Amino acid sequence: MKKDLISILDLSETELNELIAEAGRLKEQRRRNQSHKVLEGKNLAMIFEKSSTRTRISFEVGMNELGGNALFLNAEDLQIGRGEEIRDTARVTSRYVSGVMIRAYRHETITDFARYSSVPVINGLSDREHPCQILADILTIKEHRGYTRGVKVAWVGDGDNVCNSFILASAITGMEVVVASPAGYLPPEDIVSEARARGGGVQIVSEPKEAVMEADVVVTDTWVSMGDEAEREARLKAFRGFSVTAELMDHAADDAIFMHCLPAHRGEEVTDEVIESSQSVVFDEAENRLHAQKALLVRLLGGEG
Ligand code: CP
Ligand code: NVA
Repeated sequence: MKKDLISILDLSETELNELIAEAGRLKEQRRRNQSHKVLEGKNLAMIFEKSSTRTRISFEVGMNELGGNALFLNAEDLQIGRGEEIRDTARVTSRYVSGVMIRAYRHETITDFARYSSVPVINGLSDREHPCQILADILTIKEHRGYTRGVKVAWVGDGDNVCNSFILASAITGMEVVVASPAGYLPPEDIVSEARARGGGVQIVSEPKEAVMEADVVVTDTWVSMGDEAEREARLKAFRGFSVTAELMDHAADDAIFMHCLPAHRGEEVTDEVIESSQSVVFDEAENRLHAQKALLVRLLGGEG
């Protein structure tokens, strides 16, 4: 049966650990300039309804380095942009390629696509989750800390798609995730309860300082995600006091790292001082998108066919 990655919880703890170990091996092979073309002849379709820098480049370069090929498809230029149904697009695209990555506004677009696709489908970000980002983040935390179990992660800001992926990942990594979001922007209840039901350690607090206290990792994301632009003014007001500043970082553990999926908005969710500080690992994190996704592609597309 085909495997998809639509939610980070599509992976068990064992599968996640194997994938992260494989990402480390692929990273080392690349560093040594050793060829690792294990996906020769495979094509990945990449459908984008929204903008992207990291996801697009890392998937395309990743497929190339694995000996395969990636097709960049702007949803607006496909017939779905003119109303062709997802179920037809999914069945047709599956006949041509070995896998599909989709970045969509609605999470259901990706689950619908996967239902009708005969090849693996990867969520390249939806309004609900960003599983590829959390894979890279787990790799980054493991590189900097050596392990994830018991690592305290403080999420400060919007309870958005990336936050949801951290919360869900707590169940398969043992990370303790503490979220501080303003009223009205908390992560969805069902995400929190799903993580807790599967053994994840998740706490929701209202004060950024409370979340960050003795944290090993401090992480944030934009206050205005793609699709939220019409709410920009209201959001900037609601998130006042939720910026990650040097003063806030002082409450974290002395060796805490700062993470951000990027793109960042300096002066909003994070100050220039913090993102440019020695505690910031945002560019390692961005690089790790490549290595983690290559491991994912090998896992999902690497079989026969
Ligand atoms: N972090 C992330 O997904 O970046 P892009 O939107 O540039 O792909
Ligand atoms: N939460 C952000 C992440 C961008 C990578 C968004 O959805 O726009």
